Amino acid sequence: MKKTCILLGTRPEIIKLSSIIRFFEKHNLDYFIIHTNQHYSENMDKIFFDRLRLPSPKYNLNVGSLSQGNQTGRMLAEIENVLLIEKPELLLVQGDTNSVLAGALAACKLGIKVGHIEAGLRSYDRSMPEEINRIVSDHVSDYLFCPTEKQRGILLGEGIIDDKIFVTGNTIVDAVLESKSLLQKKILESNNLKENKYILVTMHRPSNVDKEDILSQHLENISRLSNDYNLDVIFPIHPRTLKNIKEFNLKIPDKIKIIEPVDFLELLSLEFYSKIILTDSGGILEEACILGIPTLNLRENTERPECVEIGASKTVGSSYDLLKKGYDYFIHNNKQWVHPFGLNPTQKIIDFLMNQ
Ligand code: UD1
Ligand code: UDP
Repeated sequence: MKKTCILLGTRPEIIKLSSIIRFFEKHNLDYFIIHTNQHYSENMDKIFFDRLRLPSPKYNLNVGSLSQGNQTGRMLAEIENVLLIEKPELLLVQGDTNSVLAGALAACKLGIKVGHIEAGLRSYDRSMPEEINRIVSDHVSDYLFCPTEKQRGILLGEGIIDDKIFVTGNTIVDAVLESKSLLQKKILESNNLKENKYILVTMHRPSNVDKEDILSQHLENISRLSNDYNLDVIFPIHPRTLKNIKEFNLKIPDKIKIIEPVDFLELLSLEFYSKIILTDSGGILEEACILGIPTLNLRENTERPECVEIGASKTVGSSYDLLKKGYDYFIHNNKQWVHPFGLNPTQKIIDFLMNQ
């Protein structure tokens, strides 16, 4: 295996790269981790390294929270400094955050090969910072690891050559399957929740939480659904969302129980024992689909249409009518599906990289 830099910066990247990192560790391969520290709060960062048994990053860039351009620009400059010292032959990134964009750009400009895990996703909504990050990262990458055949088609359509594209599945499959036998009801008990009698909510997209009227509409919709169907609501809240609720001085409806972000096993447990999940998270859409729990996507679009096509998710945005219709649909149709995110994705990616 070539000397490899694994670059990460946020909660979902730590989770979705955990199986890859553990492989590099186990086989004593020549690699190091750069953490941009885009996420830095203990419950968005350190708990994942601890609970997923990951080694500390060799480099911690301490970039933190800044505006889009400042954050990406500072990362780009700092990542380049490290790459010039370490001279890896390959850099691996996962997903669509500003950290991914900065890592991919820094490496490709130094002639270092870039492997992009979770390549080829498109929401076709360029107002999302992630959509820009996905497009640019894919187009500067040398190895594009796609979750399903759908992304291969998208990348080919954008003129990327087939030789660079590898359909491997999504590493979230390994993360979920490694934890599935460990799921516990402890987190339910400590929050007075009963299996199948509560809704799990997560929400953090700027389009949902950065504008007062939309955020307020979502809180009202969630509260209304829980009242109409007599269900509890648990909402492990992202720091962006909490900051905005405080800034807008919004009252959280009584039915919605807000808690701090939890660790991965606790979140998976909350997913698995819930009646239904309301979320704007890409990762949670995939996990719930793997666990067999329906999701109502609180966005107007998705870059994961597979979940909708197999009947595991409905895209409802901020409309109460669609939310209610979506809920009724899943409650009256006891749907089952087979998730589309592949088998042994980590092994497939590693097998490919070993042969380079
Ligand atoms: C970022 C990613 C998004 C991903 C999400 C995962 C981009 C453009 N966005 O969004 O794609 O879905 O991470 O959670 O890369 N904050 C803290 N502590 C932290 C991190 C953030 O308090 O550890 C607060 C800060 O007030 C910050 C805000 O959250 O300004 C937003 O953080 P940022 O990393 O800019 O974007 P996310 O919304 O987390
Ligand atoms: N997650 C977690 N604790 C929480 C909320 C989320 O461990 O309190 C996990 C979740 O299981 C998933 C990932 O974080 O694996 C999703 O991250 P997020 O929703 O922040 O980002 P996205 O996937 O939308 O990029």
